[in-house]
Amino acid sequence: MKIVNNFSLINHNTFGVDAIANQFTSISSINELKKIISSNESKEKIFIGGGSNILITKKIEGLVIHLNIKGISSKKIDNNYTEVNIKAGENWNEAVIWCLKNDLGGIENLSLIPGNTGAAPIQNIGAYGVELKDVFTSCEVLNVNTNEIVEFSKVDCQFEYRNSIFKKNKNYIILSVKLKLTHANHKLKVDYGSINEKLISLGIVNPKINDIANIVTQIRKEKLPDPKEIGNSGSFFKNPIIKKKQLEKLKLNFKDIPNYKISDENYKIPAGWLIEKAGFKGKRIKDYGVHKNQALVLVNYGNATGKEILEFSLSIEKAIQFIFDIKLENEVNII
Ligand code: EPU
Repeated sequence: MKIVNNFSLINHNTFGVDAIANQFTSISSINELKKIISSNESKEKIFIGGGSNILITKKIEGLVIHLNIKGISSKKIDNNYTEVNIKAGENWNEAVIWCLKNDLGGIENLSLIPGNTGAAPIQNIGAYGVELKDVFTSCEVLNVNTNEIVEFSKVDCQFEYRNSIFKKNKNYIILSVKLKLTHANHKLKVDYGSINEKLISLGIVNPKINDIANIVTQIRKEKLPDPKEIGNSGSFFKNPIIKKKQLEKLKLNFKDIPNYKISDENYKIPAGWLIEKAGFKGKRIKDYGVHKNQALVLVNYGNATGKEILEFSLSIEKAIQFIFDIKLENEVNII
């Protein structure tokens, strides 16, 4: 376990921001992690996984700890279900592919989501009608204050749309995640509009989990920029939830406003639509901007700083507040 001084994090955040950490280390076991937490004197300790949901806006004066604990195992629970245990440092999509190869179903809609498995519960990753919480059973967590390992059940995690206890309480580091997947009688989720359309256009009548994974991968590739080519962190904002009354009011000026009913009183509005309507889609200033195919994704074309991207996001927030009277919230964690 080597500690490097003045380390550039450019290869450790998918935004590709060239921010410096005073100290950096990468750990590959729980023992190494415990040791570094108890021995390093830096007050500021920042834990990162795949770096796919962070925007670093400053020099980090403390220690950055890259969590790189690997391993996947599985065991059959009954005739239908298998429990899969994935260590935090496993790349999420590689874990999805491992499950597909073993004919394990439940996370095929979550194909190609960037980042590591340890980050998946933090924001309860979701896409195309499935959220992590739908297959999650528990996770193993290190409490950095006590250096103790505890098991969190699904209820303990307090999952909500793009939210969990881990967003509110930063003392917990996720070490591994357990999922309950099907090895027989897979329950496919195909109701998300664009999946259904692709199935029809490809003439697939009885889709398999691999078909869904391929379709989701294709849709994501069409819409979302590859962080290896254009720096980004996926959706920058959450889709806001507004009251029915406000939606009715907005419909007077914006007849075509898309909305999804959450409950009798609450409706989710696609932030991508709001940002596009406000004229930001495809806009580029210097090396930062809004992606041309998905207005919810902010991008770094090369040399943008985290501070520039953050300030740009604030100007988008201001415009959305002014035009629609809707407050956007970040999905990405700002450091
Ligand atoms: N839309 C626009 N313009 C845009 C983008 C979207 O008008 O530029 C509108 C359209 O009405 C479209 C609707 O938004 O029908 C929904 O768009 P999309 O299916 O692309 O999904 P999203 O709501 O923008 C969410 C997740 C994505 C996830 C997709 C697919 C959030 C914050 N984002 O995006 O997650 O892949 O659904 O399920 O909930 C991520 O979290 O990083 C992420 C990419």
